[in-house]
Amino acid sequence: MQTVRQIVLKRRPTGVPVPEDFSLAQAPMPEIGPGEMLVKMRVGSVDPAIRGFLDDRPSYLPPVAIGAPIAGMSLGEVVASNNPDWLVGTLLRAFATWSDHYVISGDALGLEQVNQAPGVPLPHYMGALGPVGLTAWVGLFEVGQAKPGETVLVSAAAGATGSTVAQIAKARGCKVIGLVGGPAKVAALARFGLDATIDYRAEPDLAAAIAAAAPGGIDVYFDNVGAETLDAVLPLMNLHGRIPVCGMIAQYNDADNPYGLRNVWQLVVNRIRMQGFITYDHMEVLSRAQAELDGWYANGSLRPLENLRAGFERLPEAFIELMQGTTIGKTMVEVA
Ligand SMILES: NC(=O)c1ccc[n+]([C@@H]2O[C@H](COP(=O)([O-])OP(=O)(O)OC[C@H]3O[C@@H](n4cnc5c(N)ncnc54)[C@H](OP(=O)(O)O)[C@@H]3O)[C@@H](O)[C@H]2O)c1
Repeated sequence: MQTVRQIVLKRRPTGVPVPEDFSLAQAPMPEIGPGEMLVKMRVGSVDPAIRGFLDDRPSYLPPVAIGAPIAGMSLGEVVASNNPDWLVGTLLRAFATWSDHYVISGDALGLEQVNQAPGVPLPHYMGALGPVGLTAWVGLFEVGQAKPGETVLVSAAAGATGSTVAQIAKARGCKVIGLVGGPAKVAALARFGLDATIDYRAEPDLAAAIAAAAPGGIDVYFDNVGAETLDAVLPLMNLHGRIPVCGMIAQYNDADNPYGLRNVWQLVVNRIRMQGFITYDHMEVLSRAQAELDGWYANGSLRPLENLRAGFERLPEAFIELMQGTTIGKTMVEVA
């Protein structure tokens, strides 16, 4: 009997996930029904949002059941199809599971065809030329309405989303300040020509350090982390500033103890618009976003920063490293 490999949830993590929370399982090769496709994973995405699906609490996707494969974004190749729109050999991206083969239908969440251009590495289409780039673009330009000449601050700036936000904000003519944890992340951003990069762990007074780098205030704060950093930034926002809330990773490993913000009143004082978003709620702008990302990649303004592992079975290890906060660039796993 043909089988598939899956990474399943063995138990719900407490705090930062550990290897014992996951196991590698075998399951029978699934059969496709009418309108469905069998897809072989080529690149598995490793995302902070997955941490939320491992807790038994409502998130924007249902919790993963104990014993079930982990839910996540996957880039794969159609290897069998009952759907004339998705022929064998087509590359696609969709929300799927950590299975080396999986079945999806034509209405799968986030389903998009991937058109790999000659010479472009496939993982880029899971990173800066894929969901990561689209998230950065939607948050910065659609939700955050960043304009040329404005000052953009981005947290987790050496991460997947943050490093993309920093580059596309520069490409649009913004002044860009990145917040990162540690000197290795400062060094990783040096090649992108940000106006300032602040290692928040080395700053006794983060608000003062940001204010010194942005004497004219902040117009757009692209928030990836929430918590103390968000609190420090709120009083530095300009009149009619925007805070696209992409995520609040600082509290994902301890979701029972969310940080109590003290400076929310600043939203009123400076008429700030703070808005959470989910990239795939903005389907109507994604082709425009993709075209602009492709253009910036082609002209060298967007250089994907990646933390790439090889081998399906390394998905848990890559995810644990991501949730320890040490990774630089987009974390993902390539499957041969
Ligand atoms: N809304 C959406 O549609 C959407 C889509 C994708 C991602 N997101 C969100 O975007 C944010 C960034 O995701 P990403 O995939 O680009 O990840 P990432 O930035 O590549 O990696 C995570 C980074 O977050 C920072 N961090 C701060 N506090 C942390 C903590 N307590 N534990 C672990 N890491 C911590 C670390 O950077 P420093 O050391 O520099 O702080 C770490 O390297 C997340 O909040 C994620 O949920 C949202």
